[in-house]
Amino acid sequence: MPGIVLIGTQWGDEGKGKITDLLADQMDMVVRYQGGDNAGHTVIDGDQEFRFHLIPSGILYPHINCVIGNGVVVNPRVLIEELDGLESRGTSTNKLLVSCNAHLVMPYHLILDGARELKLGESKIGTTRKGIGPAYADKISRTGLRVQDMLDMKIFKEKLEAALDEKNDILTKIYGFEPFDLEQIVYDYAGYAKRLKKHVTDTSLAVNKALDEGKNVFFEGAQGMLLDIDHGTYPFVTSSSPISGGACVGAGVGPKKIDRIIGVVKAYVTRVGSGPFPTELDNGTGDMMRERGGEYGTTTGRPRRCGWFDAVILRYANMINSLTEIVVTKLDVLSQFEKIKICVGYEYEGKIYDNFPPHQTVVHKCNPVYEEADGWMESLGEITEYGDLPKAAQEYLARIEELGGASISMVSVGPKRRQIIFKD
Ligand code: GDP
Ligand code: IMO
Ligand code: MG
Repeated sequence: MPGIVLIGTQWGDEGKGKITDLLADQMDMVVRYQGGDNAGHTVIDGDQEFRFHLIPSGILYPHINCVIGNGVVVNPRVLIEELDGLESRGTSTNKLLVSCNAHLVMPYHLILDGARELKLGESKIGTTRKGIGPAYADKISRTGLRVQDMLDMKIFKEKLEAALDEKNDILTKIYGFEPFDLEQIVYDYAGYAKRLKKHVTDTSLAVNKALDEGKNVFFEGAQGMLLDIDHGTYPFVTSSSPISGGACVGAGVGPKKIDRIIGVVKAYVTRVGSGPFPTELDNGTGDMMRERGGEYGTTTGRPRRCGWFDAVILRYANMINSLTEIVVTKLDVLSQFEKIKICVGYEYEGKIYDNFPPHQTVVHKCNPVYEEADGWMESLGEITEYGDLPKAAQEYLARIEELGGASISMVSVGPKRRQIIFKD
């Protein structure tokens, strides 16, 4: 089973970093295939906490080749900061490969991201302001600069000049900002290029070679499927394809090479940023989830919105991603609730929706249909055997499987590596 994709099944922050790090031990390669430094993946190794934004969560194992694939948008300044941070903590980053075809996040992308959000006012998306949307927009408009352009500064300068021609007009005439200086950006990016050059390569060749040799290749999704540009809660989404299919596009491999698709499912739901969230709890119960779960953004520090588990979303994620298994995370966080609710459908204007509604008005305005289950009121952090989980917790997990149509392979009961329960 060499090609394994891991994705978030909700709005991100499901605990993908922890599960990737955990499974990376058995892998030969870990690949990021979409997103950029909007991602924040937390890994706890012993008593050290790592927060990865661009670098795959497999980097802590010396035997692993880590890959930033063509589908990622790379802010080279952030990547260098991350590399330096790891090196200063004693982690070697020599085995990191960066795709020559990945697009670059440029300084004007960050400014435009913020400016557009400001202009949207109350309707803002609540982006991470890392320039992700504008960088992907330029990629699709064919006006983007790629990592490989940094390897030839003459070409880089020509392309940048053409891009700035338009960008500076937008910045000065529409938003009233100062224009960017061509020479300054060229100077900065020449410095980044010098530092990153040794990592840049044709990563799709490297990934396919590893797969063809029967190596275990792990594709680490960022964000979550409801933030997908096509299948998420548009326009309150990110600008890439975090779904399993995105791994093929963003790493350059054919679908036949994917054998296993793991969906990471938080035992409740969170969301950062704006947009619909049917099971959101804007009350003391939601506050308790946030505090117990430490639900504050890894990238931006913003408090995450919290709500009950939503089986409509899991069914949808299962369909869009062809999940072969699910991993339920943060079950321990629910330990202090006497009663736990599970959303089994949505009601809107007298109609019940079992499947995720295609019309955004319904998602915005629907009422969740809940069933209630008993809580367990016992801490779970030290449990290592599935059968040792409280009966009510096992029933809750069985209901998630039943409603989502997916089988659980692991249950995470704390942020540490050892806080994991393998099921069968
Ligand atoms: P990601 O973006 O999907 O990788 O998730 P984040 O790292 O942004 O957020 C997940 C947070 O929950 C991190 O702080 C993890 O250390 C933590 N975490 C992961 N799994 C568990 C778990 O099973 N229980 C608890 N209590 N925390 C967890
Ligand atoms: P990980 O990988 C949670 C959200 C932002 C915003 C929307 C668009 O840690 O799960 P963007 O900056 O991408 O244009 O913002 O997407 N968002 C995330 N939410 N986890 C993430 O990543 C996210 N990456 C982006 O909050 O609502
Ligand atoms: Mg995160």
